[in-house]
Amino acid sequence: MKLNLCVLASGRGSNLRAIINAQRAGKIKSRVRLVISNNSKSGALKIAETGNIPHYHLSQKLFGSESHFVNEFLRLLNKYEIDLIVLAGYMKMISPRVIKKFRNRIINIHPALLPKFGGEGMYGIHVHEAVIGSGDMVTGVTVHCVDEVYDHGAIILQKRVKVKKGDTPEILQKRVLKTEHKLYPEAIKLLETNKIGVGKRKVILK
Ligand code: GRF
Repeated sequence: MKLNLCVLASGRGSNLRAIINAQRAGKIKSRVRLVISNNSKSGALKIAETGNIPHYHLSQKLFGSESHFVNEFLRLLNKYEIDLIVLAGYMKMISPRVIKKFRNRIINIHPALLPKFGGEGMYGIHVHEAVIGSGDMVTGVTVHCVDEVYDHGAIILQKRVKVKKGDTPEILQKRVLKTEHKLYPEAIKLLETNKIGVGKRKVILK
């Protein structure tokens, strides 16, 4: 099944790029139909522009109220016939109204093995600092469904990544990111091949 994807991203957009590359290489059937960012200067919007993908800077600050903002969000998702919302470094909470409408059709990637090293404040380099601080010698990547609770929804796919002696958080972050770029397209493929229905609470551990 070919899914219409909307990627939400706030920053650099390397996961967005990995998904577009997977699509171009024929590794996934799904298409990035829409990119939305809360950050007008994000790399993600530039990547979308270069790839001729419809893209929008959408920030609640630009709207009078949360409800107008969410209306516009939902209008775009409807306009581009989005099947699956893919969070790739999106730094804002998803409105409960969007979660309700897209229940089990929103996924996120997290640079650790959830439920470890997740939750509020666990983003970016903080995750890898916490992993190294814990003394764990294994970390990884998690793709999971998004629900109302931060980093909490059903896990779709995980992959382990070694922590090596002498790793700094930055070195570890780079190693984990490489795995993210492979795992996110794999998760999308699982969803499109129906090996795991979007939202079926099935966990596949790799
Ligand atoms: C990734 O590490 C992802 O796991 C996290 O945010 C980062 C986004 O990186 N949620 P990029 O913008 O895709 O390069």
